[in-house]
Amino acid sequence: MLQTRFSIAPMMDWTDRHCRVFHRLMTRRAKLYTEMLTTGAIIHGDRARLLGFDASEHPVALQLGGSNPRDLATSAKIGEDFGYDEINLNVGCPSDRVKDGRFGACLMAEPELVAEGVAAMKRAVNIPVTVKCRIGIDDQDPEVALDTLARSIIAAGSDALVVHARKAWLNGLSPKQNRDIPPLDYDRVYRLKAALPDVPIIINGGITSIAEAKRHLKHVDGVMLGRAAYQEPWRLLSADPELFGEPAPHAAMKDVFEAMMPYIEDQLAHGIRLHSMTRHFVGAFHGVPRARAFRRHLAENGVKPGAGVNVLRDAIALVDDRAPASMAA
Ligand SMILES: Cc1cc2nc3c(=O)[nH]c(=O)nc-3n(C[C@H](O)[C@H](O)[C@H](O)COP(=O)(O)O)c2cc1C
Repeated sequence: MLQTRFSIAPMMDWTDRHCRVFHRLMTRRAKLYTEMLTTGAIIHGDRARLLGFDASEHPVALQLGGSNPRDLATSAKIGEDFGYDEINLNVGCPSDRVKDGRFGACLMAEPELVAEGVAAMKRAVNIPVTVKCRIGIDDQDPEVALDTLARSIIAAGSDALVVHARKAWLNGLSPKQNRDIPPLDYDRVYRLKAALPDVPIIINGGITSIAEAKRHLKHVDGVMLGRAAYQEPWRLLSADPELFGEPAPHAAMKDVFEAMMPYIEDQLAHGIRLHSMTRHFVGAFHGVPRARAFRRHLAENGVKPGAGVNVLRDAIALVDDRAPASMAA
């Protein structure tokens, strides 16, 4: 079953498997997304390292970068065989590396090619296939560009569309600027939903809290949170109560970390460095007294050779509050 109501965005270098396990401990319901993986990496690279994930992460979607329909189909099948719950195609990333490979946001200008890719993936797998896009690129008229892309991919069998509610400007802006400077246009995404009432539409971009997410759900089927989820992960503790009417998995961040310890110990035993995991914890106690001491302790000691869970335990002991789930909304 395709859960669309709430998800955490694919973010390169951020939403790796350790981050996703951490996020899962704050919300049972969110659909989690991998970082974008190119079809080339999946087909030719070290698949176990690139695609491996922890069983606790479900539901988890694999995001692909690419445009060659055959390669997309092959990669989607590999993802399905690894156990992913959904395949998502990136039609929103604006970096130069991505443009050179003819994928990411520049595909907004090639709806037929995207549709071919979606159709090929649909033929190859039984799990849902979705697309994540922008409202347009450069001088495209978003009224036309977004509708055209949406109709093409839906006709090709896409099960849902995630829309980052701003354009990507492919000439002149860095990827980071392209996440902030082109203006947000939520109404454009609401209009898409009104025009395609039967198609699950998920809105993304600039949403800073679960309370705000809830307001969007009056207009669209789902909300995807990116930076707010990563930078202030404690907000996720209110996702299940606020958006699904279910209790949070844990009452406070300290409980989340306690629940994370066995995973961390297991990863350390497999040779993963503590910092690879603790780097995702920087925002965990945002706004709580002594959060800075927590961050500093992790930054200074988490990178030392042989650093173990006691570094994390000592860092947590520096925080005197129990960040309550109630502050998270
Ligand atoms: C560090 C970082 C990496 C990102 N990497 C990806 C990616 O791999 N694939 C993708 O579709 N979007 C990527 N994005 C964009 C996010 O998925 C999301 O669309 C964007 O950040 C807007 O949502 P937000 O305002 O909630 O963060 C990335 C964003 C950030 C901050």
